Amino acid sequence: MSSSAPVVLAVSGASAQPLAERALQLLLEADETVEMVTSRGAIGVWQAEMGLRVPSEPDLQERFWRERTGCDRGVLRCHRWNDQAAAIASGSFQTRGMVILPASMGTVGRIASGVALDLIERVADVHLKERRPLVIAPRELPWNLVHLRNLTALAEAGACIAPPVPAWYHQPSSLDEMVDFLVIRVFDALGLELGALNRWQGPLQRPSSS
Ligand SMILES: Cc1cc2nc3c(=O)[nH]c(=O)nc-3n(C[C@H](O)[C@H](O)[C@H](O)COP(=O)(O)O)c2cc1C
Repeated sequence: MSSSAPVVLAVSGASAQPLAERALQLLLEADETVEMVTSRGAIGVWQAEMGLRVPSEPDLQERFWRERTGCDRGVLRCHRWNDQAAAIASGSFQTRGMVILPASMGTVGRIASGVALDLIERVADVHLKERRPLVIAPRELPWNLVHLRNLTALAEAGACIAPPVPAWYHQPSSLDEMVDFLVIRVFDALGLELGALNRWQGPLQRPSSS
């Protein structure tokens, strides 16, 4: 796979939309080509949680995200949530992989049962059948048995399950730093280093108190 092939960024309707926005910004700043799909559910969550009206028409969406991220680098192609004729819906279209960030339990369940009604589900299905990287960042708390079984089925089918769970070893001093940590760790799973991170180097050398 060419290292310049596009990356698919799929955003579904779970409560972690700022992670998706930061991921898009970092991908574009890194001059990546991004194929972006935002589910109908995600558009509703943007509106409910952040008061953001994300347009559903692809060209308006591209303009919207360019303005929000303030980034004119890279290539951004947005796709309508139900456009099953989009290039990325075919296995013949080459990508470097797909990240679903965040992944709602509805999207997880539909992919796990092979129900490809919307574009995100179809593209995820394609990545699994083509044995291409599929990283799923599920957001729900707690998980019930159905969620766990669906996530297990997806892991068995080859997906990497990378829940956006915070850590403190990188010593974040702000929510923005925590957001960056989560986004960078999720994209680590795709083999893409999206930014500098205070990675674990072993225990700090602290002066002894005795
Ligand atoms: C404000 C808001 C927050 C939500 N947060 C979550 C969440 O964190 N996880 C989840 O699985 N569903 C969440 N939902 C429910 C999903 O958005 C809903 O199941 C939707 O149908 C998912 O559609 P999609 O999978 O096509 O994106 C939330 C809904 C709203 C309105």
